[in-house]
Amino acid sequence: MRHDKVEKNLGLMVALILLVVSFGGITEIVPLFFEEDNTVPTQGVRPLTALELEGRDIYIREGCHVCHTQMIRPLRAEVERYGHYSVAGEYVYEHPFLWGSKRTGPDLHRVGGRYSDDWHRAHLWEPRDLVPESNMPAFPWLFTQHLDGKHTARKMTIFRDRFGVPYTDEQIANAADEVRGVREVDALVAYLQNLGFGLERN
Ligand code: HEC
Repeated sequence: MRHDKVEKNLGLMVALILLVVSFGGITEIVPLFFEEDNTVPTQGVRPLTALELEGRDIYIREGCHVCHTQMIRPLRAEVERYGHYSVAGEYVYEHPFLWGSKRTGPDLHRVGGRYSDDWHRAHLWEPRDLVPESNMPAFPWLFTQHLDGKHTARKMTIFRDRFGVPYTDEQIANAADEVRGVREVDALVAYLQNLGFGLERN
């Protein structure tokens, strides 16, 4: 019997189990790649500027995503606190995602525009000056380190060619000049101020 063969041959059994399981996965996952909600940017979402992109890299370098999420769940408590829940179309240009998995601090997905640039700078210099009970670290070195713009154009080219982020040739050509000499803190604040503009906020 053919069935005996499968039962007595472990390798064959494993291969067939994987085939069956992956079929289930594929039918669920593949359609997501073609669904408009997931592949078309939400209205108001644009690729990050050169400066914001550098700011995002500082956000990653400093580990902000270890304490902060960028993913507001569709739960009443979250929507009341942070604003409209996050939707897939807001992340179309994001590589990699910075959803995070732990909230030592609040979610930042809609923090853009909530505070002034000065507030952010003061907060990054010493969080306890503004929020006495804060346990967020201070980031004073961001005020003395400057961007050199050496890799900015290359990063944007990779975003365009590999991930389809629609940067224009002009944006890429001007990238280095746009960021060269800017303090790291100002790039980071530019990035923070753009977070969450895709959807209306509370
Ligand atoms: C060790 C955890 C930790 C790290 C790392 C951290 N934060 Fe925070 N962050 C917090 C906590 C806790 C708060 C809430 C208290 C406060 O406002 O300082 C906070 C608050 C904030 C707020 C105010 C949010 C709001 O809605 O009021 C911003 C903006 C922020 N952090 C940005 C950053 C950035 C940018 C970085 C990386 C440079 C960073 N944080 C790194 C813990 C952290």
